[in-house]
Amino acid sequence: MKVDGQPYRSIWVDPDGSTVRVIDQTRLPWAFETAALRTLDDAAHAIRAMLVRGAPLIGATAAYGLCLAARADASLPGLERAAALLNATRPTAVNLAWALARMMARLRGCGERERVETAYAEAARIADEDAAQCEAIGRHGAALIAAAAGARPGRVNLLTHCNAGWLATVDWGTALAPIYVAHERGLDVHVWVDETRPRNQGAALTAWELGRHGVPHTVIADNAGGHLMQHGRVDLAIVGADRVAANGDVANKIGTYLKALAAHDNGVPFHVAVPSSTIDWSLASGRDIPIEERSGQEVAIVSGRTESGAIAAVRITPETSPTANPAFDVTPARLVSGLVTERGCCAATRAGLRALFPDAAHAEPA
Ligand code: MRU
Repeated sequence: MKVDGQPYRSIWVDPDGSTVRVIDQTRLPWAFETAALRTLDDAAHAIRAMLVRGAPLIGATAAYGLCLAARADASLPGLERAAALLNATRPTAVNLAWALARMMARLRGCGERERVETAYAEAARIADEDAAQCEAIGRHGAALIAAAAGARPGRVNLLTHCNAGWLATVDWGTALAPIYVAHERGLDVHVWVDETRPRNQGAALTAWELGRHGVPHTVIADNAGGHLMQHGRVDLAIVGADRVAANGDVANKIGTYLKALAAHDNGVPFHVAVPSSTIDWSLASGRDIPIEERSGQEVAIVSGRTESGAIAAVRITPETSPTANPAFDVTPARLVSGLVTERGCCAATRAGLRALFPDAAHAEPA
């Protein structure tokens, strides 16, 4: 996607052929800065400290993290240690373990002297495939938006939670890809952007992305969605996911479940857009999806730009009040109207997923 007219991906390799570069998402929307990753520890830090975030981008960064690790130590024990370190950075997005398993399978199959080159080639394939899959999700999902547009006069109002745009993937995004495609096809779309407390990925990142691309949008407090749905002001809700279980249960940013409940109560279609790398075929249901618990400081302290232009952090809770910060929740499949994948749309059911991905069914639990 473009930033000020210049095409960008969220991760790339510098012309020196080895340094990995990412957009530092902790600096957005105030500054567009890139960060250079030169070592395994740089990559692990970028994921842990959320310079990069979003399930597909976490996976791609981990893949490149193994490339950087291989430059320092291409032995198999060294790479296994590096993979374990990267795998421990964040627990919920399955793309992380998926990308590491794919990289390690490739690296185990080649000699030590070829490993650096093989690693960069495989990481590039993972990145390219993600961009292509998200573009396909955009085409399939745009048909849903076009159908909503055809069913009513005027503007189509969409609602999204967190950031599932191109910043969260390698390019295009998952939930936002259909919106970009619909917008480019000339449909009159408007997006309600949940602020997404506590880290404000919606207010900071989704709003920035949509604004840079010229897509009409409005940032709302997280609690506004139910009210807007009750008043017929949301035609379609679309979100991404960090992990989809084999039965269609969906883990996504905390607060997604409440939006799905409100959508269900108000007859608003609630779609989840995911590349197949986000489907965890080994989990029978969402009950076993690990939910990341993050620091309560993210709840107690918010940062923003003051009138003087300085970035400041302020506490919004009493010093003595404890805080809790579960970062994801699980939306049961029965509340999901459909899944949008690179292969098309399907019901959020075991049968729906199997029909689209018959080749993956062998990985399912008995
Ligand atoms: O904590 P984050 O910002 O990594 O959480 C991201 C999300 O919850 C996204 O909705 C999800 O990863 C889908 S990204 C295409």
